[in-house]
Amino acid sequence: MKTTARIIDFEDPTFDPFLTFEKAVSSDFSDDPYVKLAAMRSDGSVFPVDYRVLLGSAPDVTLKDLPKFMVLGSSDIQHVFENPAIFSNSIFKRNIGHAFGRTLTVMDAPEHTRYRRLFQTAFRPNVVAKWSDDLVAPVINNLIDNFVGNGRADLVNEFTKYYPFHIIYKQLDLPADDIAIFHKLAVGLTCIIVDVAHGMEASKKLGDYYHLLLEERRDGSGTDLISLLAQAEIDGEKLPAEIVVSFLRQLINAAGDTTFRATSSLFAGLLSNPDQLDAVRNDRSLVAAAIEEALRWEPPVTVGMRMTLSDTTIAGVTIPKNCEVNAMVGAYNRDPARYENPDQYNIFRKPQRHMAFAYGQHVCIGQHLARLEMTRALNALLDRLPNLRLNPDFPAPKVMGVNMRVPREVHVLFDAT
Ligand code: HEM
Repeated sequence: MKTTARIIDFEDPTFDPFLTFEKAVSSDFSDDPYVKLAAMRSDGSVFPVDYRVLLGSAPDVTLKDLPKFMVLGSSDIQHVFENPAIFSNSIFKRNIGHAFGRTLTVMDAPEHTRYRRLFQTAFRPNVVAKWSDDLVAPVINNLIDNFVGNGRADLVNEFTKYYPFHIIYKQLDLPADDIAIFHKLAVGLTCIIVDVAHGMEASKKLGDYYHLLLEERRDGSGTDLISLLAQAEIDGEKLPAEIVVSFLRQLINAAGDTTFRATSSLFAGLLSNPDQLDAVRNDRSLVAAAIEEALRWEPPVTVGMRMTLSDTTIAGVTIPKNCEVNAMVGAYNRDPARYENPDQYNIFRKPQRHMAFAYGQHVCIGQHLARLEMTRALNALLDRLPNLRLNPDFPAPKVMGVNMRVPREVHVLFDAT
């Protein structure tokens, strides 16, 4: 679809949001946070600490005034997600909400319930399935075309880093010329937790751009996601522009960055276990188990953050009103009481709920799309790269980071075709 809207880059050409964001979520931090969390488990479930400082990540400058608690025990983590009247998402109004705007993530019921119902219709399994052949598969195959003849690749830097983002650009039908700046600004939004000025600059520029696109697509002739949201109604009224624009601001990070990390960790886990790789290669009904195990083993988002709206007690520890509570979903996924040898990637373990998509009212709205993208990506690599295996000339892939985790590289060999 043609557009007259133009996206404008950061004023400062030297600002690198990718680097700033990586530092903010400590993706370069190589100590395994799960070692420390496992050691703390026997001392209790609730601790009055900032997990970021504890685990070596950068503090969130927008939340520095709030007392902080970390929740480690599985049933207590579930309790936090099940009680939104006490543990509120309004905490996000203080950090990423400034940059994203009024997204589902910053809302509590009843506002959240009202809008969530509507956005959810756009990401139901039957709607998402329609994107599979037309949109997801071509993006994946185009990227594989670039290295299929080489016999070697770095699956992170040549594939996973791009594919979920390219899918979103197609869903939104963005002009190809705008994409590089668009991506930079989208990552710039999340820098707000350490760099407020650049986060707000990105918010204004993306907001202006999306408002223009939304106006242009209100006529209903398009079939892209922006056109669909432009036409969506709630109680007989069109969805307010501010709500659509905020959702779109969040989408690129919520959908792109998370799926990039999840798929990279999937490849790291599966390729590091050649027996399991062979089993999946030979029996594709195991693909779903390989994906769920990757999401359990290395959830891309390791923490669910909330703010207390009243005094409360968890596991005998009193948490006053207006405190930051961090439910450590990564710890839930590695709880030895739930999963035998939790640090091992094992597609054959008994399926059990994990928390990679969180839980409760705010559970990930895009989980069906994420699973579909990962399924197509893994199947396509296994179909098109015969004898796919890790490249022994490089160190084994290592998933790194505190709040958000990803391996920096997954080097592979295969029979070139
Ligand atoms: C493997 C990939 C993904 C992971 C690990 C993931 C993880 C999460 C998590 C943990 C939450 C809950 C945050 C909270 O409790 O406050 C969430 C919410 C959300 N996710 Fe995802 N996500 C993924 C993919 C996607 C995709 C593809 C979309 C695209 C639509 C998406 C859109 C959203 C939105 C809009 C929310 C906010 C829901 C609400 O607050 O009601 N996510 N995601």
